[in-house]
Formats: sequence, structure tokens, C-alpha cells
Amino acid sequence: MKKILDLISLEVMNAFAACGYDAAYGKTGISNRPDLCEYQCNGAMAAKKAYKKAPIVIAQEVAEALQGNPVFEEVNAVNPGFINMKVSGSFLADYLLKMQADENLSVEKAEKPKTIMVDYGGPNVAKPLHVGHLRSAIIGESVKRIGRFVGHKVIGDVHLGDWGLQMGLIITEVRKRQPELVYFDESYEGEYPAEAPFTISELEEIYPTASAKSKEDAAYKEEALEATAKLQDGVRGYRALWQHILNVSVADLKRNYSNLNVEFDLWKKESDAQPYIPDMVEYMKKEGYAYQDQGALIVDIKEDTDTKEVPPCIILKSDGAALYTTTDLATIIERMKLFRPDEIIYVVDKRQEMHFTQVFRCARKTKLVDESTELRFQGFGTMNGKDGKPFKTREGGVMRLETLISDINAQMYKKITENHEVDPAEAAETAKLVALSAIKYGDLSNQASKDYIFDTDKFTSFEGNTGPYILYTIVRIKSILNKYQAGGGAVCGGSILAPVNDSEKGLMMELVKFNSVIEQAFEEIAPHKICSFIYDLANAFNRFYHETRILTEEDEARRKSWIALLDLTREVLETSIDLLGFEAPERM
Ligand code: ARG
Repeated sequence: MKKILDLISLEVMNAFAACGYDAAYGKTGISNRPDLCEYQCNGAMAAKKAYKKAPIVIAQEVAEALQGNPVFEEVNAVNPGFINMKVSGSFLADYLLKMQADENLSVEKAEKPKTIMVDYGGPNVAKPLHVGHLRSAIIGESVKRIGRFVGHKVIGDVHLGDWGLQMGLIITEVRKRQPELVYFDESYEGEYPAEAPFTISELEEIYPTASAKSKEDAAYKEEALEATAKLQDGVRGYRALWQHILNVSVADLKRNYSNLNVEFDLWKKESDAQPYIPDMVEYMKKEGYAYQDQGALIVDIKEDTDTKEVPPCIILKSDGAALYTTTDLATIIERMKLFRPDEIIYVVDKRQEMHFTQVFRCARKTKLVDESTELRFQGFGTMNGKDGKPFKTREGGVMRLETLISDINAQMYKKITENHEVDPAEAAETAKLVALSAIKYGDLSNQASKDYIFDTDKFTSFEGNTGPYILYTIVRIKSILNKYQAGGGAVCGGSILAPVNDSEKGLMMELVKFNSVIEQAFEEIAPHKICSFIYDLANAFNRFYHETRILTEEDEARRKSWIALLDLTREVLETSIDLLGFEAPERM
């Protein structure tokens, strides 16, 4: 469906043309003086020069031409040449009727659907998820859902970190503890056990222990490096052990992500890209892109317009080892081969921006990607505690994601059960949904690239700009609709009448913004725009609700119209929170 602003612009453009001016001057925007009008066109001022006329005269002519136009309730020319407009209630009602009938709620599907890969999550195997991984998961999931909603083919890839020193560290520590394991017997040729020699909780203890030891003990570190090299060279027993680490860890990650309502299409990992490295290196050398510099193999990626130093891209270290950059370049090759994406979006901590600048430039220069393939870095800021420093536990340690979630679940459960009798099982389910809305909305309502303060008390509040407030509003609407149905009424769309008062019009004015908000959120990778939209929408609804006695309205047509309006509001809110990655309970 056309956006409401475009429809209004069209009317004003036609009026400019009818008065003998270039239609382009009729472009109209939302008013920045909502106390005076709803929409505003400043074209008369811009036309002054071309037509050598006082802007107010032009504005008056155009305003005159718009009198009687059914789209508008009021059109005024105001000094020095503004055209101020209010739209008519019937125009709004008509737009909402079409929106209600539209299967995508007025949002147009992309004409040429793109294949978009979203690289997000990015956890590292065998290390517990901590709050630092939260943002990537939450933002990436939303970006994926928005892309799909506007009609693209979006593939979410978790891109597991499974190939670095951390694997060598774990293998080394396992070896110290259980040297008798068959994985370490290099002459062994039989099948390896199907059962892993550790559980996830053991694994989570093993890694930090090994990491700490390696920092104090040079010989230990040496062993870990050696184990890493052996793994990478394909030593059978090490590969088998690595596979166990992977399986145990992935099962746990899946459980964690599913608690967050986050789901990946692909569980690819850094190791999957390794087979592409030798050919890539050969190619880069052969084409003259890569050259030896102090033993290392590098590609220059400086550009004349750089204002700060962009170091060359190191493809291989002097000992021949591949780096994080190498893996990301090889991953691009793999993605191009398997999916030919039109776009790859990386949702990663913004402190990795330089890394991605290097990767993108190198991939472009060496033609690993098609000219038309877009590489986009969506860096996100740090999640801080109330003290403004990176979020920590009370004791100052790294906060595990699971702990954070269960703390907030418990807090929500307490809130929900505090003042009234509820079935404990239902309360627990509800608490989970509301807690997730608190976490996700708290995060997504901030512009991704900015740092923000994770303020548990604020985020979990049922009032203000929070997830629980949005859910509360949805639940309120559902409860009115249920009551209406219980009284024999049918909620079935249709029949939206022109508004009778300001608060009803205000609600309608918010609803009609939906398609333009979603389009912007997609183009700018900006889920926070959806958050501010639903916050305004929820406020507009609550204002209407407080001023209107919906169910006891005597006029049946009016009552039906309000029910249809409520149901549309519910649908827009529920669709929006689904795009943000959470959902509303039936009651709370
Ligand atoms: N595993 C990495 C980390 O923890 C994030 C991976 C991001 N994605 C990528 N393609 N490099 O820092």
C-alpha cells in the first residue's frame, strides 16, 4: 500500500500543478508544529525564486485549490509561506480499512527480493554465553525478522567461533586430567567413543581453568599452541575430541538461544571456512594482490581518503598461521559459493569495526564478492551497568547470560504474583514472556551503535517506555476484545468510521505510520524506530481508552468501529513485537 505521506503529497503536488507550478514543490512532511497542524508543505518558500512571487501568495493559491478536497479537514496558508494541513477523519478511516484488509498490514513486499545473510550471535564454543553476546543475538534476530517481513530471503548464520587457541587449551586441560583417554593415543586406529568425556558444566569449568593456567605457565601455553596446531593439521584423536566439544557446546547454546526466542538457519562455524584458505591464498598471490612483508603475507588496503591509519590486511602470519581476518575472508568465499547473497550484514561489537573495514576492503579489492554484493557492518555499543561500566555481577565478575535471564524471570514472577492470586504455572510462563520483553525492548529501544545502561528496575517497570508496558497495553486490548466476544459480539474487522474526537484521531494517526516505520527500520537497520513507534502507538491507545467507554457505547455501528480499531491496533502491536523478537501473553 502507498504510504500515507505519499498520498497526501500527491494531493498537494496536484494542487501546485493545477496552479501552474512545478508539482515537485508539493512534497509534504509530518508537521514539526503538531499544535498547529498534522502535515506541512514548505514548497511555496522553495518556489519563490523560480516564480519571483511572494511565498505566501503561492501558498494561498495552493491552499485555495485544496479547499473541498476530501483528504483534508483543513488547509491553511501561513506566513511566510507554509501550507498547514489537517487530514479528514474519513480519509484516515478509509486508509485503516485498507490496512486491515491488507495481508501485510500495509507494508509492501520488496519488488525484487534479495538474499541477505545476517551474521549474528557469534558465540565461541565451550565458553559460556555472557551478556556481551546478548546484543548481537537480540539485534541480529530482529534484523532478520524485519528483512523477512519486507519480503527478502534472509539467512541467519550463528558463525560459531570454534577454531582458535581456545580449542587447544581445552584439549590440553582434558589431556592433563585424563591422559589415558584414547583420543591421545596417536597409534589408535579404531572408532572413537560416541559419548563425550565431559558434560557442559565440566566444559565450562575446563576452559577458564586452562586459560588461567596458560597465562601463568609458559610451558602450558606452549602445549596448548601445539594442540591447536595438531587439531588444525587434522590429527584424528584431536578432531574427535573437538567434535565432542562442539556437540556438547552447541546443544547448550541452542537451549540458551531458544530461551531468548532466537533461532538460526545456519550453524556454520569458523572451521567450515578453513578448507577455502589454501586456494584463496594461492589466488591472492597469483593475482598480485598479496605480497610478502617481513615474512607475513599481506594485502594493502589503504585508500587516499583515509583520515586515520588503516593497517594492511594480514592474510598469513610469518609462521604461516591464518588469522581471524583470514577466516572471515574465507567465510565470504564460502557464502558466495553456497548462497550468492546480495548483502551480508554483520551484527558485531563495534570495537571490531577496524577488523571489518579490513575484511570488506580486502574482499572488494581481491574480488571475492560480486560488485553488487553489499557488505554491511552493524556495530553495536556496550551494555553497561548503572555505574556506566560494562555490565558485571554484583561481585564484579562476568555476568553469565543465563544468570541475567533467570534473575529477571524471578523478579517478574514476584511482580506478577505479588498482589493477586494466580496459578503458579501460568504465572511462570507469563513471567518468562514479560521478562524477555523487558530485556529485548530495553536493548532494542536504544540505537544499536550506542552504549546503553542496562537498568533492570527501569526495564522491568510496567510504566514508561518499556517492553512490559507494551505487553500490558496489548493484554488490555485483548481483554476488551474478549469481553466483547463473551457478550456475543464478533471481532471480524470491517466498518471503521471516521473518528469522533481527538484521542481517537490521534490513535489513527499513529496506526497509519506503520508501513513507513517498518520500511525505515529495514533500510537503516534500525529496530529502535519500531520501538519508538509502538511506544507512541501504545500511548495513543491508552489515551483513547481512558477517554472512551467502548463496550457500553449505545450506537452499535460506533461500537463495532471501535472494536475494529482496537483489533487493528492489537494486530499492529503484535506484529511489531514479533519483529523485535518477543510476544505477549493472554493475560498478565
Ligand atoms: N566470535 C566472535 C567474537 O566473539 C564474533 C564473530 C563475529 N562474526 C564474524 N564473522 N567475525 O568476537
